[in-house]
Amino acid sequence: MKRLFIGCAAVVTFGFAESYTQADRILDMQKLAQAMQDIQAGFFYNNLDIVKAGAEDLKKTIVKIGPIQEEINNTDVYERWMDGNTAMKKRIQRRIIQHSDDIIARFSDGDATQALQVYGKISSECMKCHVSLRKW
Ligand code: HEC
Repeated sequence: MKRLFIGCAAVVTFGFAESYTQADRILDMQKLAQAMQDIQAGFFYNNLDIVKAGAEDLKKTIVKIGPIQEEINNTDVYERWMDGNTAMKKRIQRRIIQHSDDIIARFSDGDATQALQVYGKISSECMKCHVSLRKW
């Protein structure tokens, strides 16, 4: 009986850790949008700490993004492939992380123009997923 209980608890815990819900993803997206706004505010107020905090939030959050359980279970092969296009997702995530570090480096060097250019690149990575991968 005790063993059965432990078994069930393990399944519940595991199942919980596995499933990334739509609500989780929307929340993460809102964090990404907030981080982008923070970076931009940091530029306008010429405040490196705000830029850094935004860039760090971006790095922390972007790695969490992925297909939700319903998409993984989708029986439409093409849709499932689009939703879970891991190679493209990983590439976008890697670029956003790289660009976030670049923004911090450029802005720390006092090169706001370059930092702003990198910011534009991040926006286009966001939109790449929304438009190409998600067909929005
Ligand atoms: C790998 C794909 C992917 C990337 C990269 C991505 N998004 Fe999203 N985004 C989505 C998906 C999927 C949704 C829809 C969320 C849902 O309804 O499940 C979404 C929705 C959103 C929303 C709407 C959230 C709401 O309240 O409904 C915002 C804002 C957003 N994304 C911002 C961003 C920003 C900013 C970035 C870049 C820093 C970004 N996204 C990068 C896939 C992505």
